This record gives sequence, structure tokens and C-alpha cells, in this order.
Amino acid sequence: MTQQRSHWKSSTGFILAAAGSAVGVGNLWKFPYITWENNGGAFVLIYLLCIPLIGLPIMMAEFIIGRHTQKSAVPALTQLGATTFGGDRWKIVGWVGVIAAAVILSYIAVIAGWAVALFVQCVDWSLTGYTAPSENAFGDFLANTSLQFVFAFFFSAATVVIVCKGVVDGIERANRILMPGLFVMIMFLVCYAVTMDGFGEAIGFLFNPRFDALSDQAILEALGHAFFSLSLGMSIMITYGSYLKRSDSIPRAATIIVGLDTLVALSACVIMYSILFTFPELQSSVSKSATGMLFTTLPPLFYAKMSGGVILGPIFYLLIMFAALSSSISLLEVVVALLIDRFSFSRTRATLVSGTLVFILTVLVVLSLDPANGLSRFQLFGTDESGLFYQLNQLFFRGKAGFFNFLDHLVANWLLPFGGLCITLFTGWFLDKKLCVEELGFIGQDGKPQIWFTGFRVIIRFIAPLAIMYVLYTVITGAADFT
Ligand code: PFF
Repeated sequence: MTQQRSHWKSSTGFILAAAGSAVGVGNLWKFPYITWENNGGAFVLIYLLCIPLIGLPIMMAEFIIGRHTQKSAVPALTQLGATTFGGDRWKIVGWVGVIAAAVILSYIAVIAGWAVALFVQCVDWSLTGYTAPSENAFGDFLANTSLQFVFAFFFSAATVVIVCKGVVDGIERANRILMPGLFVMIMFLVCYAVTMDGFGEAIGFLFNPRFDALSDQAILEALGHAFFSLSLGMSIMITYGSYLKRSDSIPRAATIIVGLDTLVALSACVIMYSILFTFPELQSSVSKSATGMLFTTLPPLFYAKMSGGVILGPIFYLLIMFAALSSSISLLEVVVALLIDRFSFSRTRATLVSGTLVFILTVLVVLSLDPANGLSRFQLFGTDESGLFYQLNQLFFRGKAGFFNFLDHLVANWLLPFGGLCITLFTGWFLDKKLCVEELGFIGQDGKPQIWFTGFRVIIRFIAPLAIMYVLYTVITGAADFT
């Protein structure tokens, strides 16, 4: 039985959905943290160069593949690869993307569960009055496995329900609510930040480049994060592109999506740094972890120190929930689309099966957060401290223990750069040039490719693959770690 392929109802709906995928915990949780660790200014500048020069063309490449074939990643790469070097082996890239998406979803559901928990806590504080939490309240919550299950399950179920309703009635409609809501909340918080004493210093920290404070590793980290932040390298944009109508402009849509993602990342920094520079005594807590900043330092601050915290607290955590939900929807859709396109599942069946499989991984992630559970010491090649297996742990995971760290490391250091590299090589060297020109609409009045296309091609053939290869090289030699 062949089903008619769904298409986004409007270009705006598509842009909101793809921006929804890109804008997520990476923007609100990871980016402010790594920017802080890398001393702001110069790191931000490098990131702002990586985004249009490498991220944007790769996003366009993924849209070309999806839109041209009107298929999700695995069948799309099978079809396009069939007549070129490597044949249908290119579909492996699609499979790697689907696996990476399922893995990311399994732990984003846990992080989003924390945001749900804090949202509930903040609403309670706002309504019934604030009581200072104990010193290790968040740590206790992490070790409380059953509570974590409840919140992660609630979040995963919301994702499943939305994806089950389909591309237009589920994904597009949800993003039409989530994304404008997210932008309004973030602008509200930015306006509040402007009134804080630390705002000026925050802007200086973010936009005043000090190159002496920049390490070599920072450049790689900026590139690695650009991938994660734009949801590249894991077939998401191929899948979303496959629901795109011929009449929509790929370069225009990609530019807006990339712009919105960057705007949210910078706004999150402005908000968090304005708070940090207003209350400098808190700065030391950031160095411990991004999680600490977001989930331990901020909540009491809203209530104990900031006027308006009663409203700001719940809004802040609702914002994180919205951002995580719109990303998770895209991650689940990649797996669902594969089951529908490749194995002819109905959407309902595909969603339930993939949702259940991913939740099994989520359960393992939750268990691994409890220090009393063996999974918190998990290492792929065993826990032996010497010999070959120890070396393999070092090579693949820098010897990190714990199932959560293992998954995050596997995806950020290996699967995403691998996926991104293959997509650039495939599009730059093996995909028909005429097809790319037509999909991008970069055709001049004389019928020849415009200069824009030359730029795209140079990046996708040379600059982007070389940059990613360098990233992979540093991962292999242990010079960089993107988690
Ligand atoms: N881009 C999302 C973020 O920045 O949080 C996270 C993400 C979503 C990564 C989807 C990868 C992905 F496929």
C-alpha cells in the first residue's frame, strides 16, 4: 500500500518546525555553558563564522536530498546513491543518523524531565510561597529514580502523541504554538535582563573578542556545537526536507532557521550572563557543570533575589520544556519516518514502536544517574584499568564512566561528525550538480548557475569536509572532546 506523502501546509510551518528542531537544550543549556568556559567573545565570533560558513551549507545539502527524493534518509540515500560511486551503501549514513536520533532522544527526554520537574516546583513556589531547597536537592532528585521516570515518561508521552498525529496536524501544529511561545518568552526574559546591573558586562563578555583567551580546542568545539545545535548529521533535515513542496526556497528557509537558532543561543547567554554578572558570587558554581547552573543555581535565585521571580521562574522552565519538546518531536519523527517509508508501518504503529524502544534506552539513562546503580559506572569495554579494553575505552570514550556520558560522548564525538562528513562528501562529490542547482534555485537569467552556487559548492566539496575531518582527527587523537 503506498500512502500519499504529506507536505507542510505552509512555508512558515516548515520553518517553524525545522527551527523547532534546531532550537533546543543545546541553545539554552550547552551553548551558554561552553561559551562561558571558553571565555566568551572570541569563541562566539568563531561560532558565528562556523554557522553560516559550514552549518548553513550542510543544512541546505540535507534539504536538497530530502526534498528531491521526497523520502526519509535511508530510502533517500539508497535512491540517490544507486547510480553513483558506493551504490546503495550510502544508506548506512541514514541508518547512523536514525540511531543517533534515537540515542539523543533517549537522554534529551531525561533532561527535559528535569525541566518539567523544575517547572512544577516553580509553579508550586509561586503559588504557595518559596521555601529554600536543601543544599543537595537536585542531586537527591537525580538519585530518585522513580520520580525521574515519571517526569521523563510524561515528556516522552507528549512527544509520542504529537508525532502520532502526523506531519501537518501533529508536528506543524505543535510547532506553530511552541515556537512563537518560545520566542515571546525569550524576548520577555531578555527585556528583563536589560534592566539588570550585570547586563552591560554580559554584553561585553559575549561580544568583545579577546583572542589571547582562545584555545585551539575552542575552535573545534565551536564547530562541533554548530552541528549539534543545527540538528545536522543525523538525517533530521533530510526527513523534514522530504515534506517540503517544490515551490519553497531552500536557501531562504535554511537562512531563516539558522538565524533563529543563533538568535536564541545568544539570547540565552544574555539572560544567564546578566544574572551571573549581577550576582558575581555565583560565578564559581558555573564551572562545575551546565546542569548545575541551570537546575541548581538559578531556581532559588529567581525567588530569593530577583523581583518578579515568581513569574520569571515558571516561564524560564516552561521555555526549556518547549524547546526540548520541539527538538524531541523531530528526533522521533526521523525514526518514525524510517519505519513508515522503509517498512510500511502505519504512523500510529511506527510511533508506538519507536517511542517504546527509545523509552527503554531512557530507562537505562535514568538508572545510570543513580550513583548506587551499576550503570553509573558503565564502560563499553569493561571496567578493567589496564590492557587492550582499557585502551579502547580511552579511544572511543576517553574512559568516561556512566551510561549517560557514554551515549552523549558517542553521539557528539563520533556519530554527528561522521554523518555530517558523509553528507558533505556525498553532496559535493557524487550528487548530480544540475540537481543541486535546480533544488537550490541558484540559476541565473542565462540559465547558468549563479555565483552563490559556486560558493556553496566550494564549501560543500572542500571546506566543510576538511573541517570535519580535522574534528574527527582530534577526537581520535584525544585532543578534543565535545561533551
Ligand atoms: N538541535 C537541538 C539543540 O540544539 O538542542 C538538539 C538536537 C535536536 C540535536 C535534534 C540533534 C537533533 F537531531
